[in-house]
Amino acid sequence: MDYLRIQGPTKLSGTVTISGAKNAALPLITLTLLAHNKVTLTNTPEVADIKTLLKLLENLGATQTLKNHVLELDTSTVSHTMANYDIVKTMRASILVLGPLLARFGHCEVSLPGGCAIGQRPIDLHLKALEQMGAQITIHAGYVNAIAPKGLQGAHIIFDKITVTGTANIVMAAALAHGKTVLVNCAKEPEVVQLCEILRDSGIDITGIGTSELTIIGTGGKTIDMVDFEIIPDRIEAGTYLCAGAITNSTITLEKVRPDHLDAVTSKLEQMGCTVDTDSEKMTMTIHPAAELKHVELITQEYPAFPTDMQAQFLALATLAKGTSIIEERLFENRFMHVSELQRLGADIRLNGHTATVIGESPLFGADVMATDLRASSALVLAAMAAEGTTNVHRIYHLDRGYENLEQKLRALGAKIERLKE
Ligand code: UD1
Repeated sequence: MDYLRIQGPTKLSGTVTISGAKNAALPLITLTLLAHNKVTLTNTPEVADIKTLLKLLENLGATQTLKNHVLELDTSTVSHTMANYDIVKTMRASILVLGPLLARFGHCEVSLPGGCAIGQRPIDLHLKALEQMGAQITIHAGYVNAIAPKGLQGAHIIFDKITVTGTANIVMAAALAHGKTVLVNCAKEPEVVQLCEILRDSGIDITGIGTSELTIIGTGGKTIDMVDFEIIPDRIEAGTYLCAGAITNSTITLEKVRPDHLDAVTSKLEQMGCTVDTDSEKMTMTIHPAAELKHVELITQEYPAFPTDMQAQFLALATLAKGTSIIEERLFENRFMHVSELQRLGADIRLNGHTATVIGESPLFGADVMATDLRASSALVLAAMAAEGTTNVHRIYHLDRGYENLEQKLRALGAKIERLKE
């Protein structure tokens, strides 16, 4: 198993190029299951989660090549409809094949994803919506068995809770359903928006894109002629590099980024005293460090509010700020696993249910720490760059799931970071 050794404190400088968004690429890859043509996706992030999903699609019968961020994917040869436990257990987002497979084949068998480190993460809303569209669903031996003998039917669906992959799954199902589907209380994340835009550009009648209510007229089972496209930049990777600048007191520039997708993150960095210059046309952002980092209050919520996927990184940042920060996690019940690891580095954090109180200006010292989930891992890397001495971050397979070439990118910015074998 690999681990990262980081020498701190570090000063960074220079420019980093942001990769394509993992969370956009995942549903867009499963969207190709609705197409009868070969599709080319550019700016595809070459991270473990994408490779896992591609393996799943290959098991279903698809062919693919991924080289230099260009993914060529042909699902016209797909003949199997079973998503095995072996793959689904390693990545919850595999559930994104459920809607497309059911819509195209009228039946599928997808392993239940189970829990994960950050909480229970059920899929009840995905299943309820598909049932409203006429699917018959049974759970047997750990698998969701779904059938829709007469094809899926358009329906009026109100999500009880905003769900990102739930919205994506049902949008894809509705695209091939018979008649009109209205989805209320949808996720508005940029990744969902891009999915809807690609469907629209591929000829599907879909309105309300970017709002919480989507209306989709399905093709009645006919597969689509899907367009080629470029995946949007990863706003969470970008936010993590902005935090890298802030926590190391450095000026760094991000390229190939969408500043408008990061408004909530930028606003919190500015409240903490940093300056962020943005150029939407050139797709760049530059962070200048704070003269004195100030404490922050933040609550994680659905887009466009502050993202839960940036909570851990801000928690790391708050340990160095002047004053007491309050960070409330509203989306996942168990997303503070990084707190005990940050405490090993010397952070003073008190947890009370969904709220972390961070007493700032803690001197951080290098230590051995363990990554617990994807974003928690990046928070540990950030803290390690600010800590005095050597930190070893173990179990970085979490990091490899979603950050492309993290250590190469940080090293190019001047970080003292190396990947070693346990
Ligand atoms: C997606 C992102 C993840 C991000 C999260 C929240 C992907 C691949 N992953 O995860 O990085 O942290 O959005 O922005 O895009 N819920 C239910 N029942 C359901 C579905 C969800 O109760 O059927 C709950 C969840 O437990 C959670 C909340 O709804 O409390 C939001 O979850 P959801 O938006 O579905 O997260 P994901 O799509 O899994």
